[in-house]
Amino acid sequence: MSLPTSTLTVNGRAVEMPTKAGTIGPSVIDISKLYAQTGQFTYDPGFTSTASCESKITYIDGDEGVLLYRGYPIEQLAEHGDFLETCYLLLYGELPTAAQKADFDYRVTRHTMVHDQMNRFFQGFRRDAHPMAVMVASVGALSAFYHDSTDITDEKQRMIASMRMIAKMPTLAAMAYKYTIGQPFIYPKNDLDYTSNFLRMCFAVPCEEYQANPVLSRALDRIFILHADHEQNASTSTVRLAGSSGANPFACIAAGIACLWGPAHGGANEAALKMLAEIGTPERVSEYVAKAKDKNDPFRLMGFGHRVYKNYDPRARIMQKTTHEVLSELGIKDDPLLDVAMELEQIALKDEYFIEKKLYPNIDFYSGITLKAMGFPTSMFTVLFALARTVGWISQWAEMIEDPSQKIGRPRQLYTGAPKRDYVTMAQRG
Ligand code: SDX
Repeated sequence: MSLPTSTLTVNGRAVEMPTKAGTIGPSVIDISKLYAQTGQFTYDPGFTSTASCESKITYIDGDEGVLLYRGYPIEQLAEHGDFLETCYLLLYGELPTAAQKADFDYRVTRHTMVHDQMNRFFQGFRRDAHPMAVMVASVGALSAFYHDSTDITDEKQRMIASMRMIAKMPTLAAMAYKYTIGQPFIYPKNDLDYTSNFLRMCFAVPCEEYQANPVLSRALDRIFILHADHEQNASTSTVRLAGSSGANPFACIAAGIACLWGPAHGGANEAALKMLAEIGTPERVSEYVAKAKDKNDPFRLMGFGHRVYKNYDPRARIMQKTTHEVLSELGIKDDPLLDVAMELEQIALKDEYFIEKKLYPNIDFYSGITLKAMGFPTSMFTVLFALARTVGWISQWAEMIEDPSQKIGRPRQLYTGAPKRDYVTMAQRG
């Protein structure tokens, strides 16, 4: 079925542009020939109305608050599956059979160790280095160790690099944490599941046995599922752009980690918890809501609002439920930060400003409370986000590499600087 074209009249000349339709969601107007036909660019800072690629991985309906990984609703994946099943689904496009899942778990487990030279690499950091700085550096450094999986034109090498990234992120994240608290690194154990292994590498010490709490392990595994992928967000777009130049996968993921660190993106979970702590009591919430509404005040409610979700972030609902589960398992009856968060949500969701601007809690609003209760310092929150998002970045990177239409990403600009002018010698400058 041929789709209707769109006509744009530029300087009196009508230009026809084809429409491309997806399986669900908005169709797109293909403007790839616009510059050749009109000598003009489109202009869309922040890409609010621009599709950068075609993808089959994740679909978001921001108005309805829907999130699908390869067509499966996030609520069902979080309820029934585990994180490695979600990794398999994002990477291969289908849910694994029992045999495929067992093989995938086996392959990931046997790539969890990092080269022992990495221990020396960590020694170069100050102990008070932010773990995200350590992650950007150490993930980028992996390309110095794994020369047999940096040829992006080789499908086998792409898959081994993907497995290594998924497998080694928990080990590097735990090392980044241990290094900041001056405790020895704990090696992964192959008889543990992915998330219990990570908890043990973070919280075990050589002096005694450590057994991960299965309720906390399941909760964290679910949190990883919620963070696994999210369409063309800023860090995923960074990974795609880095990958479009042919850079190796480890360098591309390091670029994604750097972008995720920003407080407007993955750094919001750390910023949200700091904000809740600064507010301190439910009584002070209204004061901060007023600040957030004040155009002259740069303060924003961290963990609120989203470029795509103009409804409740479906992940935030699951996150809130998980928060209550974890606090109850830990016997934390009344967490002051949770009290502030619940009051803030109550007030904001009834406030005309937030209703009119469609600002709802996003995934970062509750995650910090949960992670803090589990024993993670705020500086580790975005590291955990990066750990989980690695499978999304890698899946999107592989899809971009395998897309026959892909070429190096190279946006243009609207130039408003000085027109051509001749050089003025120092003597003439006065
Ligand atoms: C993540 O893209 C993804 O998918 C990201 C993510 C993922 O999984 O990869 O979902 C993860 O990054 C979630 C978002 C985490 N960030 C925060 O919680 C930081 C606080 N939120 C905002 O900074 C903001 O909402 C953004 C960055 C998330 C979205 O910003 P947009 O889409 O560019 O919207 P905007 O800045 O243009 O805001 C629209 C209006 C503005 O008011 P006006 O200028 O129109 O009058 O809403 C206001 C903003 O001032 N606004 C807020 C607000 N967020 C937006 N006002 C107060 N508090 C806020 N949090």
